[in-house]
Amino acid sequence: MKIAGRTFVVSGGASGLGRACVRDICAAGGNAMILDMNDELGTALATELGPSTAQFLPCDVSDTASIASAVAATVAWTAQTGKPLGGIIPAAGVGHPGLILDKQLRPVPLESVDFVLSINLRGTLDLVRQLLPHLAATEPEGADGERGVVVMVASAAAFEGQMGQVAYAASKGAVASMTLPMARDLSRFGIRVVTVAPSMFESNMTAHMSDKVRTGLKKAMEFPPRAGQPEEFSSLVRHALENVMLNGVVIRLDGATRMPSKL
Ligand SMILES: NC(=O)c1ccc[n+]([C@@H]2O[C@H](COP(=O)([O-])OP(=O)(O)OC[C@H]3O[C@@H](n4cnc5c(N)ncnc54)[C@H](O)[C@@H]3O)[C@@H](O)[C@H]2O)c1
Repeated sequence: MKIAGRTFVVSGGASGLGRACVRDICAAGGNAMILDMNDELGTALATELGPSTAQFLPCDVSDTASIASAVAATVAWTAQTGKPLGGIIPAAGVGHPGLILDKQLRPVPLESVDFVLSINLRGTLDLVRQLLPHLAATEPEGADGERGVVVMVASAAAFEGQMGQVAYAASKGAVASMTLPMARDLSRFGIRVVTVAPSMFESNMTAHMSDKVRTGLKKAMEFPPRAGQPEEFSSLVRHALENVMLNGVVIRLDGATRMPSKL
């Protein structure tokens, strides 16, 4: 998929890994629709990139009506710019740790499980689901007749969830598991699906980690022994968008890190 001349929807695009994807897509000549709940960061990014390449829409991916209005606005924008939809990057996500059973024998509150699943899993699936009819209606591109790419965001926690990550690991494991069946469902439309599973990356989500946790994480890392940079994430996403042979696969981006039980 050529990025130039196409529009890509990035949820969680106002910050961290999603923001790096937005900047990369615009630098490659694509347009980016930034969907996020953070008005301040979303507006600042759209202003930085300029209205002809990036637009920000406040959107809560756990609310299906909020997604529906964002999808309608995206479709209207693509009609106005003449840059058809080319891909979806559902990067909105939350951590929200909690032990399944704490020391006082209290099970994890169901509201906290629902909160994580409604954004990381349901929000991912719903955004993709609502945009797909529009992606599948675009003109096929090139000799392969490609119409678009979905690049989802899992986590190392899909494979080695740490203590307190039951809900987060469930959400990210589900995203990883959806990758192949979604690719199979969409192959007839010329739409690919790739998932990236990062380990620890610098972002707002990880900015408040204590030094103790950071040092512990470094011990679990092979090479390089440091957190990834958002640009290292977005460069893999760009490759996934561009390389037509990547499909139905979950790619770990972790410098061979394998998370221990606790830090
Ligand atoms: N940073 C890491 O170490 C790391 C590791 C593995 C996976 N991830 C995943 O990468 C993705 C991006 O996270 P990040 O590290 O850039 O964090 P981040 O906090 O910097 O960015 C996440 C963005 O999602 C937005 N968001 C949260 N809830 C939302 C909702 N309901 N609707 C719309 N937007 C919402 C936030 O406002 C924020 O802008 C997440 O899915 C996260 O789980 C991050």
